Amino acid sequence: MKTILAHGLAWAALCASAADAPPLPYEAKATHVGVVNCASSLCHGSITQWKDSQVLQNEYVTWSRVDKHALRANQVLWNERSKRIVANLGLRQPAHEAKLCVDCHGHNPPDALRGERFKAADGVSCEACHGPAEHWIKSHVAPGATHEENLKNGLYPTEDPVALARLCLSCHFGNKDKFVTHRIMGAGHPRISFELDTFTQTQPPHFVVDEDWQKRKGRWDGVRVWAIGQALAAQESLDVVLDPKRGRDGLFPELVVFDCHACHHPMSETRWKPRVGTRPGTIRFNDANLLMLRQIVRQTFPAESATFNDLVLQLHRAVAGEGGDAHEAARRLHKGLDAVVAKLRPREFDDRDLRAILAGLVEDGIAGQYGDYAGAEQASMAIASVLNFLARRGKLANVRAANAALDRVFETVRDDEKYRLERFQAALAELKTFVAR
Ligand code: HEC
Ligand code: HEC
Ligand code: HEC
Ligand code: HEC
Repeated sequence: MKTILAHGLAWAALCASAADAPPLPYEAKATHVGVVNCASSLCHGSITQWKDSQVLQNEYVTWSRVDKHALRANQVLWNERSKRIVANLGLRQPAHEAKLCVDCHGHNPPDALRGERFKAADGVSCEACHGPAEHWIKSHVAPGATHEENLKNGLYPTEDPVALARLCLSCHFGNKDKFVTHRIMGAGHPRISFELDTFTQTQPPHFVVDEDWQKRKGRWDGVRVWAIGQALAAQESLDVVLDPKRGRDGLFPELVVFDCHACHHPMSETRWKPRVGTRPGTIRFNDANLLMLRQIVRQTFPAESATFNDLVLQLHRAVAGEGGDAHEAARRLHKGLDAVVAKLRPREFDDRDLRAILAGLVEDGIAGQYGDYAGAEQASMAIASVLNFLARRGKLANVRAANAALDRVFETVRDDEKYRLERFQAALAELKTFVAR
């Protein structure tokens, strides 16, 4: 009874914070008109950018030609791999008809909210990210239309890093409505990796953050996007632990929130090394995002560092059966992350912050903190982003050599199954010479 009550309270707390958030595009109660309505050459389908427009006007062309969300996201559901996944799961429908798959590999609003020109085959379409256009399609092009009015009419606030993270993570990790479980991965679905800033840059972007953008939408700070992306990703994993429906699979907890390679490596290779809060032969919570947050909190709000690290340690200890209740630890950390996000939202990052974060990541890496592949993968993406910001600000002395050193870091995380901590550490030690300057 006591634990049931605790779960109930945890859920109430989670729902309270989620209630302030705008509905995700697939949850919104308005009609989705279809990509074709955005695609005309006078709207977002121009072949070239317009010089005197606030936006590029060629967004459709970028999306349809080079963005994997357009065709590929949906087309992969017809391939052999998808057939195998669906067969292994024992689903009756083909993948391109199964809600389980289409919810992420396309835009799947309820039938009643699909306009005449809506096409499921369009994949992850404009409205999958920008929200159903019924109430803003006309008004967003009216003379003098402001961004606030567009938002009121149901445009999704993609410029807000918290809303952005929730949106991308809804498919690039999953949420209460859609989710790639370990069973789906066991059936053949690839492991999903995500980092908000890197993925926003590689989508590729169909927008430029110039003066005009910032006047309409506020400041865009890539480091803040990265940091908030880490906090929300960590919260999504904790949500799985706390969700009585998603959190368990028979006798076991849902395995997706743990370090994949803790279980998936040959027994002949004993790799265990002492790590904060873990013991040999126990399963580790995948703390890749938490390791990044440790850096972020340490550099940005040093006074909170000890408390934050303690919340993480309590979770690790509880997961490993070293004391404490894992749900309680997850709930407390989730709440701690709410506070981190609230502090990050208004935070501006200067060059000194960038250098401190970079140095911290490299030092932690050399010291062996990223022994698990997922942590090393996140650290590599973070280091690349921070170096990129410094280079764009003209604050990186030897960009070419730094890039070459960064390539060597990425080489060590290219294949998760061949990851070796020692090689990652050596590549970081080499990169370190560029961080100091
Ligand atoms: C929670 C969202 C989500 C669900 C549910 C989901 N997927 Fe995926 N899937 C993704 C994402 C995101 C990727 C891309 C991973 C990456 O490359 O980072 C992906 C990748 C894939 C790939 C590899 C694509 C490629 O380009 O090689 C296949 C195949 C696939 N999914 C099939 C399926 C099938 C079949 C289902 C239903 C059983 C399904 N997925 C359910 C999000 C999802
Ligand atoms: C995977 C999500 C995603 C999809 C799909 C998507 N967008 Fe975007 N879009 C974004 C993000 C993120 C931004 C940047 C944040 C912002 O400006 O609000 C953006 C920005 C924009 C902007 C604003 C640029 C500015 O200067 O204000 C326009 C216009 C736009 N997208 C049009 C489109 C059109 C048209 C499509 C479909 C052809 C589309 N988008 C598909 C995520 C998406
Ligand atoms: C409705 C679900 C959905 C949403 C929302 C979504 N994505 Fe995706 N995204 C996918 C799927 C599915 C794929 C895999 C496409 C493939 O390779 O088959 C993908 C692929 C990508 C890729 C290419 C990855 C690779 O391996 O090459 C990037 C980059 C990306 N997404 C970024 C984003 C960003 C940034 C956002 C938020 C603005 C976002 N996505 C929102 C479903 C989604
Ligand atoms: C607690 C241990 C554990 C963790 C953590 C774990 N797995 Fe597994 N995984 C298993 C077991 C057990 C099987 C079933 C193996 C079998 O059927 O031979 C399995 C099966 C699989 C398979 C199918 C392998 C096959 O031979 O058919 C894939 C793919 C997979 N897991 C991926 C992942 C990914 C990706 C993650 C991390 C997100 C992960 N696993 C985390 C234990 C784990």
